[in-house]
Amino acid sequence: MKILVTGGAGYIGSHACKHLLGHGHDVVVYDNLSTGFRDLARWGEFEHGDILDDARLRGCMRRHRPDGVIHFAALSQVGESMRDPGAYYRNNVGGTICLLDAMRAEGVKRIVISGTAAVYGRPEHMPITEDVPAAPINPYGMSKLFMEQMLRDHAAAHGLHWVSLRYFNAAGADPDGETGEMHDPETHLIPRIFMAVAGDIPALELFGGDYPTPDGTCIRDYIHVADLASAHRLALEYLTEGGESGPFNLGTGKGSSVREVLDAAERACGRPVPFRMAPRRAGDPPELVAEPSRARSVLGWTPLHSGMDEIMRTAWAWFNRGKS
Ligand code: UFG
Repeated sequence: MKILVTGGAGYIGSHACKHLLGHGHDVVVYDNLSTGFRDLARWGEFEHGDILDDARLRGCMRRHRPDGVIHFAALSQVGESMRDPGAYYRNNVGGTICLLDAMRAEGVKRIVISGTAAVYGRPEHMPITEDVPAAPINPYGMSKLFMEQMLRDHAAAHGLHWVSLRYFNAAGADPDGETGEMHDPETHLIPRIFMAVAGDIPALELFGGDYPTPDGTCIRDYIHVADLASAHRLALEYLTEGGESGPFNLGTGKGSSVREVLDAAERACGRPVPFRMAPRRAGDPPELVAEPSRARSVLGWTPLHSGMDEIMRTAWAWFNRGKS
């Protein structure tokens, strides 16, 4: 297939592009490089463009005539979305409107989007199935829920085929060391642990030790980015074979607490992690763990890299790239 990948210069997008090329698909990356990196857009042809630029996007779609679209281009930070909701609705919802209009105009019928566990908000029962009612507690999660609703409506009106992959906590880096996480500012737990180990920050702040969990710290379901990458290919192939549209959770089904992540980081780095307890971070649910069996049974997806030690090893190697 020829696949148009929006946001292919970002963290998850670049891993997906590498994976797609490795499985014989042609890739066109469409990215405005606002949070992505030109160096990471090295798998496939690169088109510099903004998702909100209707004319450019449509021109790109007309020139390349893709068989399907994988849509990563979006803002993705929960805290930022609380401070600037307009930017999230403009980029994530508005960008998806532009994309769906261009697809419709050019007759492109299949799309896989980056969804998120943030659509579930603060669910009471673990693990979380796709049938748990969506109830986002921040504009980021809400913007992704609106995106899913738009896909449903386009499916009903125009025969669009779609999958939303609801990621839990994306982590790790390319096992070959060719791409990885580079956020600015970096807010995610594992890279911040490494920043503390390397002395780039004085200590990791551990947000909240009084949650109703066995060790008092938040539990998350960490999924290796290489496993996320393979799920996008499988989802597009599934749609091509006539699979039914819908959302799929991408997680392992196993939760790790922040303290367990710290322990795994110490094993990977061979050094203690300087940390200090800090108050809870606003908006953090105590526990988010996926029930991932739908993606396994329907898409045939098997996570191969998502053991915590492999996540840590690959992420630590990427963090230290270029350092002697
Ligand atoms: N944490 C710390 N210290 C830090 C950073 C994080 O203690 O410096 C804790 C958080 O409180 C949380 C856990 O580590 O309990 C994981 O935090 P991350 O920021 O790495 O990830 P989140 O779970 O907040 O966010 C992820 C994705 C979002 C997505 C969300 C779904 O990054 O895009 O899951 O809830 F929206």
